[in-house]
Amino acid sequence: MKYGVFSDVHSNYVALRAVLDFYRKNGVENFVCCGDIVGYGPQPLECAEELRGLKNLVTVMGNHDAAAVGKMDVKWFNPNAAWAIEFAKTQLTGQALDFIAGLPERAETPDFTVVHGSPRKPLTEYLLSETQFMDNAKGWTVSPCFIGHSHMPLYFREGEAGVPETDFLKPSMKIFMKGRLMLNPGSVGQPRDGDTRASCGIYDSKNKVFEIYRVFYDVGAVQKMMSALKMPAMLSERLSFGF
Ligand SMILES: [Fe+2]
Ligand SMILES: [Fe+2]
Repeated sequence: MKYGVFSDVHSNYVALRAVLDFYRKNGVENFVCCGDIVGYGPQPLECAEELRGLKNLVTVMGNHDAAAVGKMDVKWFNPNAAWAIEFAKTQLTGQALDFIAGLPERAETPDFTVVHGSPRKPLTEYLLSETQFMDNAKGWTVSPCFIGHSHMPLYFREGEAGVPETDFLKPSMKIFMKGRLMLNPGSVGQPRDGDTRASCGIYDSKNKVFEIYRVFYDVGAVQKMMSALKMPAMLSERLSFGF
């Protein structure tokens, strides 16, 4: 089975559409989203509605989703992020709001585990080190474990004799499921690794391999919307640099 694995859409509907079109062209019909569907960007309702209607989707709640539905205090966010969360609150209504509010903090299937931040702190931990990866070892069972939150495409592996390894994921790197793995597909809507293209992954559960892909989208169109909504300039400008 081929899974389209993506995360941190952050209300960037133009980037989400580009990623879903990429999946469609590649015959992907099952999906995994690691949370942060809303926040930061101009189209929270469109993103929530698109994912609510997506068949065969396993998804979890991110910290921005939690804040947008009143499950987390906005005081934990910087002023720009808080602005976008308040904006998302004004946009999310009806079934889209119910969809975001009803997301679980973790999901497990026979093929994988999903959390936003980390197994021990699903909404808040930025999992970026081998030490954190090992400290989370007891919090999940089914490998691979898909994570998001840091917006960095990377993997962690518990190799032979329990020795951990990690590296950033670049397109054309194939990660085979040897040992226990955590995989972060990077961010669709606000990449932070210096590549402005949307980041997403494909997990082939039959051949046990994960690959990252980068997809072009119209950054300028999103920035135009953000400027029309008078969103904080920094949130718009960072999309030009991928940081
Ligand atoms: Fe995020
Ligand atoms: Fe997050």
